[in-house]
Amino acid sequence: NDGRNGNKNSKEKQLDAFKVDDKGKKLTTNQGLKVSEDEFSLKAGDRGPTLMEDFHFREKLTHFDHERIPERVVHARGFAVHGEFQLYENMSKYTRAKFLQDTSVKTPVFVRFSTVNGSRGSADTVRDARGFATKFYTEEGNYDLVGNNIPVFFIQDAIKFPDVVHAFKPEPDNDIPQASTAHDTFWDFVANNQESAHMIMWIMSDRAIPRSFRMMEGFGVHTFRFVNEQGKAHFVKFHWKPMLGTHSFVWDEAHELAGIDPDFHRNDLWNAIENGHYPEFELGVQILNEEDEFKLGIDILDATKLWPEEDIPVQIIGKMTLNRNVDNFHAETEQAAFHLGNVVPGIDFTNDPLLQGRLFSYLDTQLIRLGGPNFHEIPINRPVVPFHNNQREGYHRQTINVGKVNYHRNSLAGNTPAPASEEEGGYVSYQEKVEGRKIRARSKSFTDHFSQATLFWNSMSPTEKKHIINAFSFELGKVKSMSVRQQIVDMYANVSLDLARAFSKKIGAAPPKTGGSNVTKASPALSQENTIFT
Ligand code: HEM
Repeated sequence: NDGRNGNKNSKEKQLDAFKVDDKGKKLTTNQGLKVSEDEFSLKAGDRGPTLMEDFHFREKLTHFDHERIPERVVHARGFAVHGEFQLYENMSKYTRAKFLQDTSVKTPVFVRFSTVNGSRGSADTVRDARGFATKFYTEEGNYDLVGNNIPVFFIQDAIKFPDVVHAFKPEPDNDIPQASTAHDTFWDFVANNQESAHMIMWIMSDRAIPRSFRMMEGFGVHTFRFVNEQGKAHFVKFHWKPMLGTHSFVWDEAHELAGIDPDFHRNDLWNAIENGHYPEFELGVQILNEEDEFKLGIDILDATKLWPEEDIPVQIIGKMTLNRNVDNFHAETEQAAFHLGNVVPGIDFTNDPLLQGRLFSYLDTQLIRLGGPNFHEIPINRPVVPFHNNQREGYHRQTINVGKVNYHRNSLAGNTPAPASEEEGGYVSYQEKVEGRKIRARSKSFTDHFSQATLFWNSMSPTEKKHIINAFSFELGKVKSMSVRQQIVDMYANVSLDLARAFSKKIGAAPPKTGGSNVTKASPALSQENTIFT
């Protein structure tokens, strides 16, 4: 039971106001003029040329000619559904976010699952990370948790994002291969940017071929901050845990399905919801005291590292139920704009340089993808609470702001910022102390690229290890450059000699040269007194 009982939540009611059902209606032009004919253009004579004056023809064709919008520069292929989130326990000890306080409130959500590298028309079951982006329509405005199904990332600094994406997308000379990890530039990037070692272990594992969107974990990846009413902050990592458990395909199944049913994951999610089998995910948090920032043996600002769950358990705090398919793919799924910068009071950022760069990139890309600065007015992106500010005009403005005051400060309209008090709820950034010299370099604390990759490998069962070896062998087997193949063998000797030896044989490379000379020590486990929960 999704608990909706026919009741519409605030987002559903808002979207309803924009819905139009054309069934049984007489056709009109966009100006509301009834048309008498829709199959033949207006011609001069029986067999004569089409006339310029045919406004109906021109309107219909022009609209068609302009139907496409750019696909997302990454995560182009996605599928989204509506749902609700409900909290299990009050989190006010850690955060003042209102939707994380009251266990009786059901917050509407919109969730878009996606692949990363494939184009809009690519297959669902390819080897790739999956996006898991959630928009919470809270009473304090939209909060977006824009995550992936893998807890770490390829790079540490956002300035490298264009490089990693260029290398992973189809090669620019011939646009081959589609959505694949099996080509020279992918592995050349990996070998020359070795901070990717850990993420690539996940990508070569069964996690990168999930059985269903309903059976994937989700991770916020970065370290964020919770800030409570008293202004006290804790570091936090976000997790989604699927109630159906985490399941993957074996590689052969994924391959076959990409041919038999390239929409496999879409069909699976759509049908589950149509049949009332509502996917559920529990929201979990790992929480770290600010004083313990340096006690994990890793830098918590480095997105290539996770916080071991045995050291910092995931505390389950609520559940999301996905219970409604969209009415219109373009209007909702394609036009949805997720952005890490959409936060509510009580949730804040850290200095993770990947996170900081993302804060720029999402809004920037959406300005072009969705045609200008008013895309927050598109129904799927509107908050369920009203928005008021002095921003005006721009392409496709829909709000008719009345009155002559469009500036701050003023005495004529009296529209002012809200204080940060509990009642008023104005957002205040966490007052972290920041100082330092300007520097463009990798922090020393970001240089351990292999220890968690090794832990990942060591935690795998023999079957999972076999799958990983087969994945490296298959993907690298498609790489034309023998030098790149060898570089990867030598690189992965730092993760596991067994692994590197096993796939080196299958790809015609020499056994690893280094003997793991670069092996770095595993992160020290947290000692008991450092563990977190108070
Ligand atoms: C989508 C940039 C890292 C998850 C996107 C988009 C851009 C982008 C430009 C397209 C957005 C749109 O057109 O609406 C970046 C940059 C990154 C980065 C610059 C690093 C520097 C990450 C990471 C994650 C992630 C670490 C996961 C934690 C997603 C998801 C989407 C997305 C889930 C799809 C959102 C949707 O469903 O519409 N990213 N990204 N990205 N990104 Fe990132």
